[in-house]
Amino acid sequence: MMHLIIEQCSARNMASKGMADETPLKSMDEIKWFHSIPLNDGTVTPGLDASMAKLEQICLPKDLSGKTVLDIGAWDGFFSFQAERNGAKRVLATDHFCWSGPGWGTKDGFNFVHNALDSKVESLDIDAMDVSPDNVGQFDVVMFLGVLYHLQDPMAGLRVAASVCKELLIIETVVDDLHRWKPSMVYYPGDSLNEDDTNYWAPNVAAMKGMLKDLGFSKVDVVYPVRPWIRYSFPVRFAASVKAMLTRRGPFSQTINQGRMSFHARR
Ligand SMILES: C[S@@+](CC[C@H](N)C(=O)[O-])C[C@H]1O[C@@H](n2cnc3c(N)ncnc32)[C@H](O)[C@@H]1O
Repeated sequence: MMHLIIEQCSARNMASKGMADETPLKSMDEIKWFHSIPLNDGTVTPGLDASMAKLEQICLPKDLSGKTVLDIGAWDGFFSFQAERNGAKRVLATDHFCWSGPGWGTKDGFNFVHNALDSKVESLDIDAMDVSPDNVGQFDVVMFLGVLYHLQDPMAGLRVAASVCKELLIIETVVDDLHRWKPSMVYYPGDSLNEDDTNYWAPNVAAMKGMLKDLGFSKVDVVYPVRPWIRYSFPVRFAASVKAMLTRRGPFSQTINQGRMSFHARR
């Protein structure tokens, strides 16, 4: 708990000084990037992630004027900096696993972009499961992107995100069991999802909607894919899974009912 309090204080101080961190900045080439973040000089950070495509998928409101935004699991901060670009009055980026925890990432990318954009985005090194209204407060918009399937207890993770969300919770996640109408969730033992042993669970659409409604959201929409009943119809899933098998992205039996979706949950 002491760790959290110290980090919180320094995050507030850093924000008021407009600094991301006290550690020396690394050069773009020295950093192992996850996000592909456009900078003001036209360069884009060389990340593995198709961040601009994901931005379209999550349907982040283009006008965030007057809104406070929390990004849980921000990593290099693509979505935090985008929220600031979209006019948010306050943005807090949080992470731990890929900033100072066991993940392969670091906070160097976030610090680099923060400096390059002269950003006012605040940051707090805190594990996703430790976020609470007591230590971060509540925000109009909460982004929970690419985090849910990494949690051993996904309902508890959603409860955390819901507890700090006043209006709109945006979730991007792996989904599975898309052929089932009944709420269900698939567990991935070991590293059976994408050879990554930090991947645990993927719900289906009914489970996501059910859990989010139980957590007090009145309206839950799939915002990506735009026409999920076509994208996840059997023939399209079948064709996508054959392609996944041929390109060695996973066995047919695993990918046939799988996908990625973005959800908006509103109070
Ligand atoms: C796939 S990245 C997504 C980054 C960013 N939110 C995005 O959507 O591009 C997963 C994020 O979840 C965070 N995370 C939180 N808890 C984790 C855990 N137990 N295992 C792995 N990653 C975890 C990582 O630090 C990382 O920032």
